[in-house]
Amino acid sequence: MNAFGAVVIALAWISVESFEQRLIGGQKAKISDFPFYASIRIYPNRYACGAAIIDRFWVMTAAQCVYSVHPSSLVVVAGTSSLNETGDRYGVHSVHVHPLFNAAMKTNDTALLRLTRSVVYSKNVSSIALATDSLPGGKTLELCGHGATQYPFTNMSVPLMSVELKSITNAQCSAALNRPITKYNLCTKGKTTKGACVGDVGGPLTKRGGVFGTTKLYGTVSWGYPCSQGMPDVYSSVLAARPWIRTISGL
Ligand SMILES: *[C@@H]1O[C@H](CO)[C@@H](O)[C@H](O)[C@H]1NC(C)=O
Ligand SMILES: *[C@@H]1O[C@H](CO)[C@@H](O)[C@H](O)[C@H]1NC(C)=O
Ligand SMILES: *[C@@H]1O[C@H](CO)[C@@H](O)[C@H](O)[C@H]1NC(C)=O
Ligand SMILES: *[C@@H]1O[C@H](CO)[C@@H](O)[C@H](O)[C@H]1NC(C)=O
Repeated sequence: MNAFGAVVIALAWISVESFEQRLIGGQKAKISDFPFYASIRIYPNRYACGAAIIDRFWVMTAAQCVYSVHPSSLVVVAGTSSLNETGDRYGVHSVHVHPLFNAAMKTNDTALLRLTRSVVYSKNVSSIALATDSLPGGKTLELCGHGATQYPFTNMSVPLMSVELKSITNAQCSAALNRPITKYNLCTKGKTTKGACVGDVGGPLTKRGGVFGTTKLYGTVSWGYPCSQGMPDVYSSVLAARPWIRTISGL
């Protein structure tokens, strides 16, 4: 079995055991509205996870997506909102997994990919700024991804979908999930009609900056419980990972 098999099994396990949520209640997203969105595919073109372009040479995703995969098996695809398209394709030079990532607990579930060549920016491809502030509850955020759009989980969504979600405090999240949620995570409110699903892992949780502001990356999808119970979605916090990101990438 190759490395891709491992990714598929991981995703399937997530779908059954802990990630039966879906990016449901979403709408089709134009890549020009989410130019920082990238998908991670297993060579040549098999979808694995979502990601965000944070620099011409760096892409951020969840550690669980890439920790067991050789860089040469990975392709980062930008500039397309369809899994049926090959898009702008970049090889991966190296995979950097957070040193304290715990695959069983999904803690510090963050990874950086260094690309083999510089990303060519366009109307549909650009980087996103990293969050510099923590989020209080009640803020409107956007999530985009190719995760399944129905439950029971069937296939990935060929079109990229986006959905608006509300942040909740870590205390609210911890109470809802009945387990500790530290500052290394952040959460969005659980609803039975909206949320992440298998296939959305690694994807970018962002906040629009308004007319003069800058859209920023606050989290990457990490894990969750079945959406039919309206449980929160849990993300790795970009702000908390900031020192590590700086050490690895200089950003
Ligand atoms: C950007 O994406 C749109 C589809 O959303 C496509 O029609 C257009 O040709 C793309 N533009 C560039 C410069 O790739
Ligand atoms: C994607 O490709 C498959 C197989 O070629 C096709 O059946 C499907 O209609 C395509 N979907 C979209 C959204 O283009
Ligand atoms: C996550 O990483 C930080 C260091 O960046 C560490 O202090 C923290 O204990 C880790 N969290 C867990 C749950 O391992
Ligand atoms: C899911 O994908 C498989 C393989 O691409 C395809 O054979 C099947 O028809 C798809 N199922 C649905 C419900 O789209």
